[in-house]
Amino acid sequence: MLRCPICSQVLKQEERIFRCENNHCFDIAKEGYVNLLSGSKAGDSTGDNKEMARCRREFLEKGFYAPLAQAVGECMQRYSCEGDAVLDICCGEGYYTDYLTQRFCRRYYGFDLSKNMIRLAGKRKCGGVFFVANIASIPLRSGSVDFAFHLFAPFHNEEFCRVLSSDGVLVTAIPGKEHLYGLKEVLYDTPYHNDEKEPHTEGLELVEKIRVRSTLNLDTREDIQALFQMTPYYYHTPSEGMRRLQERDTLTTDIEFVLLVYKKL
Ligand SMILES: C[S@@+](CC[C@H](N)C(=O)[O-])C[C@H]1O[C@@H](n2cnc3c(N)ncnc32)[C@H](O)[C@@H]1O
Ligand SMILES: [Zn+2]
Repeated sequence: MLRCPICSQVLKQEERIFRCENNHCFDIAKEGYVNLLSGSKAGDSTGDNKEMARCRREFLEKGFYAPLAQAVGECMQRYSCEGDAVLDICCGEGYYTDYLTQRFCRRYYGFDLSKNMIRLAGKRKCGGVFFVANIASIPLRSGSVDFAFHLFAPFHNEEFCRVLSSDGVLVTAIPGKEHLYGLKEVLYDTPYHNDEKEPHTEGLELVEKIRVRSTLNLDTREDIQALFQMTPYYYHTPSEGMRRLQERDTLTTDIEFVLLVYKKL
């Protein structure tokens, strides 16, 4: 499955390293992940920082987004078989892959640009192969992925199509109209609904849309702040809105996602 980020040859595992036939070697860290960023980018993995990784881990572990994990699982069951290769694109700290490994027998892979995220994902020891990599150059063999899912991350049509097998399936999530409206009502004077804009795709056919809805009842300031930090609003909310949120002890908000299921053409 894995290919060398330097020469694109197959990577083989030898105890604690991955090696290609040209002798490029990549250590498996003690947390169980491997850094497959090549060249000058290798040392300073960017992406989400430690604090963002910690917030995401704490929030997701409480099961607030479990309806989404369940929907991805149901979808994966319908569109893939036992033993298939499943890829969690920009997997973050590994919550969704961990959820799936506990329920469905597949070969799981997950990658993210952030070493902080992948370190947490590796520590889960859930059976998935986690690696640091950039979405623009995924170190996996062409046509090797049967089912890929992609949640709240940059979209890279060309690389997704390259790694998918000939009848492979890609599932991506976009925020639904009502997603986090209750949070936005606190943050903004004039909150807006999401426009459910679908990504522009080529070589992928949309075969199904699945709507997932639930209501979150958060009753601690920590949970409210953790949710806020996971959202894009964290970066562009006026200070007045931030202050209003900091004063809240409880928050009720709908969450809504649309899963878009694509087949490779
Ligand atoms: C909002 S988080 C979502 C993480 C995970 N899918 C989840 O839902 O928990 C977006 C993730 O995309 C990763 N990311 C951003 N740019 C990336 C890139 N160019 N290549 C790989 N991962 C990237 C970030 O490090 C971050 O973990
Ligand atoms: Zn190599």
